[in-house]
Amino acid sequence: MIPVISTVADLRRWRAAVGGRMVLVPTMGALHEGHFTLVRRARELAGDAGRVLVTIFVNPLQFGPNEDFEAYPRTLEADVAGCAEAGADAVFAPPVSEVYAKDRSVTVQESALSGRLCGASRPGHFDGVATVVMKLFNLTQPTDAVFGQKDYQQLAIIRRVVRDLNVSVEIHGAETVREADGLAMSSRNRYLTVEERAQAPALRRALLAARDAWRAGEVEGARLREWALERLAEEAPLGRVDYLEVVDAAALTELPQVMAPGAAVMAAAVFFGRARLIDNLMLE
Ligand code: PAJ
Repeated sequence: MIPVISTVADLRRWRAAVGGRMVLVPTMGALHEGHFTLVRRARELAGDAGRVLVTIFVNPLQFGPNEDFEAYPRTLEADVAGCAEAGADAVFAPPVSEVYAKDRSVTVQESALSGRLCGASRPGHFDGVATVVMKLFNLTQPTDAVFGQKDYQQLAIIRRVVRDLNVSVEIHGAETVREADGLAMSSRNRYLTVEERAQAPALRRALLAARDAWRAGEVEGARLREWALERLAEEAPLGRVDYLEVVDAAALTELPQVMAPGAAVMAAAVFFGRARLIDNLMLE
């Protein structure tokens, strides 16, 4: 079995012994095929000579007061076994006390991309993400790190932090891994009841229907949005839309018209019961 490191001191010892490429896959655990696909990608990037480290840390800083920090699923044993099988060399799974000083007073804040979409309904969320990712970079000193495009806004913000703070880590984005019916894999899917699970794939279908409309010549962002919302309301009455927007693929600001392929992303968050599910689709 691969080593499971839980202290910063042990992590530093492990890191000091690693030369060459070190590819990091940050996660919050409750791992599924989406995460394991990132680990396999990391293994490819690292090659035989490099090393792959998965971090498993449910980061309190990125959860709001009424969110699911306490309830977030914790399945360390199965996670470690899956990481080993997917080609990881080690797992770093520290307790909160190893990561945050009680009187911590420094936050990494990205201020252009963070306030919209998920950031609008989860104030402070992306400060928590940017801060912990920066800390994980500093702690583990990777040459590369792999993130999923399922969290499109998160990936954009991490790329921005890396650019603006001159962090020497190469960021790799990996495609969203889905269930057979199109639902994006997520640790939060296990919150869904049978009825909610049956309706949840409608989110993906609604985005695909809007993309079809765009491909057929509809360029108005507002119309594309309505198209997707109508489809979603029809097929998923249990869904409660948090947001569904057509945004500029780089700036994440609302885009009134979508002309060029790759210029816009449709991004959405929908509550099904207590699960808040997100997905996105590039218009191309
Ligand atoms: P978590 O939700 O555990 O996701 C860890 C990584 O897996 C992220 O890069 C995410 O985009 C990716 N991922 C999740 N589901 C995926 C799917 N279905 N297909 C492809 N990739 C997927 O995202 C976080 O944790 C945290 O915010 C973190 C970056 C670890 C900071 O705490």
